[in-house]
Amino acid sequence: MSHHLVVFDSVFFCYPDGTEAIKGVSFRITHGESVGIVGANGAGKSTLLMHMNGYLIPMKGSVIIGDLYLDKKTRQEIRKKVGVVFQNPDDQLFMPTVFDDVAFGPLNLGMSEEKVRERVDEVLKTVGCLSLKDKPPHHLSAGQKSAVAIASVIAMRPDILVMDEPASNLDPRSRRQLINLLREFEHTKVIASHDLDMILDVCKRCIVIKEGRVVADGPADRILSDRVQLEENNLELPLSLQRL
Ligand SMILES: Nc1ncnc2c1ncn2[C@@H]1O[C@H](COP(=O)(O)OP(=O)(O)O)[C@@H](O)[C@H]1O
Ligand SMILES: [Mg+2]
Repeated sequence: MSHHLVVFDSVFFCYPDGTEAIKGVSFRITHGESVGIVGANGAGKSTLLMHMNGYLIPMKGSVIIGDLYLDKKTRQEIRKKVGVVFQNPDDQLFMPTVFDDVAFGPLNLGMSEEKVRERVDEVLKTVGCLSLKDKPPHHLSAGQKSAVAIASVIAMRPDILVMDEPASNLDPRSRRQLINLLREFEHTKVIASHDLDMILDVCKRCIVIKEGRVVADGPADRILSDRVQLEENNLELPLSLQRL
């Protein structure tokens, strides 16, 4: 099914201050793949993910989502296919109540109010936050905000789910719930994280980014057991692979 395809072909991106954050990245992610993106702080992971829904547009090279080349004209269409959960949930939640935030996307897609109400209940239940429905998002804990941000994205039933450091604010129980949720999500997933145990649990494939380039791309169990390569990237073996 070509509509779940994510292709990066020699993508370059430079911030206005001259920082070359992405320097020729290529990969191809096909339908149903689960891909972890790992690398040191500043390696370029977030910049890369921001290209997946056209929040950023490559300066050189191309990004293809499904059968569309990403550019300013296709960006809106691409956002219907790709749901991105940003690193900081405060960037995602801006409405007066949790309900309004989760309902926002589906209403924009033109769903009826009744259907939207059903959908909101369903996804809030999935992330364990149904009881928070009428609360203002700024009254929630960091973990609750993350869960609601995730709900607001899955409410749109994206073909491709992209997450930037989704577990960083979560307590162990919420983290485990998130892992279970991600394992059940059948579509294409791309997850950037320092939580290598989570990547190992959720992703079959792993891409290592260093200074804006891909330095490794392969099966997650192989890449995440390569102690030398992980250390070169300021990362450590997942706890589950450390021999005590
Ligand atoms: N808005 C920005 N303006 C200038 N440089 C930026 C901006 N955002 C990120 N960078 C720089 O781009 C590089 C990649 O950053 P980022 O994609 O956030 O890495 P990561 O998510 O892997 O930590 C870093 O050198 C970072 O300092
Ligand atoms: Mg980042």
